[in-house]
Amino acid sequence: MCGIIGCVGTDETVPTLMDGLSNLEYRGYDSAGVAVQNGKGIATFKRSGKVAEVRKALPESPPSGTVGIGHTRWSTHGPPTDQNAHPHTDPESRVAVVHNGVIENYDTLRAELEATGNTFVSDTDTEVIPHLVAHYLDQGDDHETAFRRTLDRLDGSYAVAAIIDGDDTIYCARHGTPLVVGIGDGSYFLASDVPAFLERTSEVVYLEDGEIARIEPDGFSMMDVHGDPIETEIEHIDWDPKDTGKGAYDHYMLKEIDTQPTALKKTLEGRIEPETGTVSLDGLDPGHFEEFEQVDLVACGTSYHAALYGAKILQEAGIEAQAHRASEYGTSSQLVSESTLAIPVTQSGETADTLSAMADAAEAGATTVAVTNVMGSTVARQADETVFIRAGPEIGVAATKTFSSQVVTLLLLARRLAEDMDDGEPREDFDEVLAALDRLPDDIQHVLESSDARSVAHKHIDSDAFLFIGRHLAFPVAKEGALKFKEITYEHAESFTSGRLKHGPLALVTPSTPIFAVATGEVRSKTLTNATEAKSRGAPIVLVTDDCDANADLGDYHLEIPETHELLEGLLANVQLQLVSYYAANRLDREIDKPRNLAKSVTVE
Ligand code: F6R
Repeated sequence: MCGIIGCVGTDETVPTLMDGLSNLEYRGYDSAGVAVQNGKGIATFKRSGKVAEVRKALPESPPSGTVGIGHTRWSTHGPPTDQNAHPHTDPESRVAVVHNGVIENYDTLRAELEATGNTFVSDTDTEVIPHLVAHYLDQGDDHETAFRRTLDRLDGSYAVAAIIDGDDTIYCARHGTPLVVGIGDGSYFLASDVPAFLERTSEVVYLEDGEIARIEPDGFSMMDVHGDPIETEIEHIDWDPKDTGKGAYDHYMLKEIDTQPTALKKTLEGRIEPETGTVSLDGLDPGHFEEFEQVDLVACGTSYHAALYGAKILQEAGIEAQAHRASEYGTSSQLVSESTLAIPVTQSGETADTLSAMADAAEAGATTVAVTNVMGSTVARQADETVFIRAGPEIGVAATKTFSSQVVTLLLLARRLAEDMDDGEPREDFDEVLAALDRLPDDIQHVLESSDARSVAHKHIDSDAFLFIGRHLAFPVAKEGALKFKEITYEHAESFTSGRLKHGPLALVTPSTPIFAVATGEVRSKTLTNATEAKSRGAPIVLVTDDCDANADLGDYHLEIPETHELLEGLLANVQLQLVSYYAANRLDREIDKPRNLAKSVTVE
């Protein structure tokens, strides 16, 4: 949510910043801008709209500075206008600042600064920061002290970076919002997220909360809020820069749907002992979970749907497990204790609601095991243990491949828990599950190659609403199908457990409300009955199941999936629904990778 980029020591500052902003655009795309220091002052270029608008605003020969910062915005305070775009400066442009987060006491600070004659030009909370830095410079502070004294005045959350006229240094700090330094060959980078500079370096240092960094042409140093030095640890990021590109695809989303077979192979790699079928997950070896009695999964959006799927697998294995929407976790009255295992599930590892739920659980005595995609992410740094889903970078705002990898990771974790926990009943048919997991990448490939989703998506595109139904493990898939559909088509889509339809939602059903019925697992016959009830009321039925021939009369359209173990059928059905959403949104000419009002990493509560 908002993307920050910075670079020092490259002679291509503006192109580097612009590349970084394009790579980070999934974090927000309301407005964007850059500021560079070129010895003659700070030059700032910013525009409302996408990063491409800033590119257009740049002069033909952009300033050749060696230090710069940039920002792509997801608005919190103030609409997406040129004025509200970052970087923000003090009135004399001595200081330029980019910020991700929310300054909660900005109105007090702004009133205080206005009382001393400062004039503000934006509606943002961020603008107080350059004003404050300039204020402390006027009091005679050196640059670093002025920056640190400014931070000391801020309440709320921030990742912030500043440049100051006449100084080839970026001053930056983190408090509750991610920031990572990239170490290149004679150059340094700064960003909210590694994909911003991955094609330039994979060596990184993550800032922790309360840490400040000075990044200069000949090195960088880290300190705490008092200015005392901090030791740093350089980490290597094991992502292929090619994975952050679109390749030959029109959209990241389609690329990410298509690469699910490869992503899943990586999710599974080396985690199942072939001889014995024993599952080992990132050091969580047999016996690790013996002391736990119940499991709370906390997550948002697509990750919540994966958590719901995982909770159902755990419940089937005799384990007391619940999936909670992270934003509601602290307000519900569930009992959390030292015998609780809390599992935050989050692709980005930065979702504020999920981090907050994890903190609540930890505070109540729970042990936390994060399931995430992003190494070095906040969740991975704060949880007691982390299991990585290894799906590779996901750039499309709509989550796709990470849902599949999350569910498979949770399935493996469920096996570990079922073996370790007292109430756990390891499945007797686990050999069959393993065989199905082994086939899963090929089964998904088959769906990708044979799917009729495009033609189904084009039918009934002008309908009033789109309904998705399923039972048991097919229910999270129906929920995910509806979320994906509304997110990228902007059409009204809802999901229901199929049995719920007749208790009210059936009143919505007309010939203009197509129903996607996910009929999988032992309970499929009930879903088929519920779909028949809707068909009798005129709804067109899109049947997603493994035996379309047997149900030829019921489905107006069929999206067939290969036969597999019932724990995995939902994943295959989900790929069909991902494709339906993609082709429907494409037909409607939507901004598929950057749906309106959304951002990929939601770092505010
Ligand atoms: C849906 C989507 C969002 C995210 C949600 C959680 O396509 O992308 O609903 O799933 O914001 O994000 P993570 O998984 O990063 O915690």
